[in-house]
Amino acid sequence: MQSFNKTIEHVPVLISDFKKLFPKISGVWVDGTFGFGSYSNYLLEAGAKKLIAIDLDPDVKKHINDLNTKWPNKIDFYISNFIEMKKIIKNLEINHIDGVFLDIGVSSMQLDKSIRGFSFRNDGPLDMRMSRNGPTASDFVNNAEEKLIAEVIFKYGEEARSKIIAKRIVENRKKFKIDTTYKLSKIIEETPGIKTGIKKHPATKSFQAIRVAINNELNNLVLGLYYAYDVLKVGGYFAIITFHSLEDRIVKRFFNQVFIHNDPLSDLKKFGGEGTPLFEKINKKPIIASEKEIQINPRSRSAKLRVVRKLSNKSLLLDQKKLGLPQVSNRLRDFQCA
Ligand SMILES: C[S@@+](CC[C@H](N)C(=O)[O-])C[C@H]1O[C@@H](n2cnc3c(N)ncnc32)[C@H](O)[C@@H]1O
Repeated sequence: MQSFNKTIEHVPVLISDFKKLFPKISGVWVDGTFGFGSYSNYLLEAGAKKLIAIDLDPDVKKHINDLNTKWPNKIDFYISNFIEMKKIIKNLEINHIDGVFLDIGVSSMQLDKSIRGFSFRNDGPLDMRMSRNGPTASDFVNNAEEKLIAEVIFKYGEEARSKIIAKRIVENRKKFKIDTTYKLSKIIEETPGIKTGIKKHPATKSFQAIRVAINNELNNLVLGLYYAYDVLKVGGYFAIITFHSLEDRIVKRFFNQVFIHNDPLSDLKKFGGEGTPLFEKINKKPIIASEKEIQINPRSRSAKLRVVRKLSNKSLLLDQKKLGLPQVSNRLRDFQCA
């Protein structure tokens, strides 16, 4: 039980707010981003009859084993992408999902291990794959065209110096292979005009962009939202934590949808409150971390929790553009691992 104790010692972002919103739950829940399993553990404590837990990262297996010991026969676990949730649920012959929880992004387990290559704070191989499968961040920076690198850094990192960073990456990779997090962060740090704030490392935005790109994070998010809506019963809850503005914008727009003349992707406000909303908002504004939580866990600073209840049983058509998903060249597909 040693490592399970470690699992519950890990304090996940915004969990005390989540507990206040959900002191008791029932039925079958999906945790699509298992990580350390702290939220899964809470969902079972709060009364979930069954839990379908999913994570892309094979490294979470040890945490699921620990949780299985505590909650025998309660958890169905899959090393998979949460965009597979519909198939998984169908195979389990479950018809009603009472709640879906997603805690998007990387875990501290991934960020803090230098070998996983996510962080410019610890030198390690330039990897960044959540699934540990397919092309790495190093494959991307050493082989992608300069234009694609610039596009990714601009659209997924909102980095104003994207073009010059991409140029410097391409110049440097002619001299040596950019295969460590240190080498990449050094190139970015030394880019003329790059902002070197005290709070934010100059490589923050570029590292985020490359991670989002190779793990296909925003496309997965959009598909995850659609599948979660699809599998939930009417009256079921959907709670989601995001960590940056691109993610939150997509979630906010998705939750704001209403059906008007069978057009499911309109913003309620634009129509003066007419139409049938897809969701009832449980919290009108996103929940953010308190100063106390930010002090204990600085990563929680950018977290936003949104919770809704499904109201409609109409089917939705996928429309990525209206959700604000940045459109990036298809050539990125060659460098994506999930
Ligand atoms: C912020 S952590 C979740 C922490 C977790 N809520 C807890 O209580 O410990 C995010 C996790 O989601 C996983 N993940 C990210 N994108 C995913 C996806 N598309 N499908 C499945 N898992 C994903 C990551 O591998 C990581 O383990």
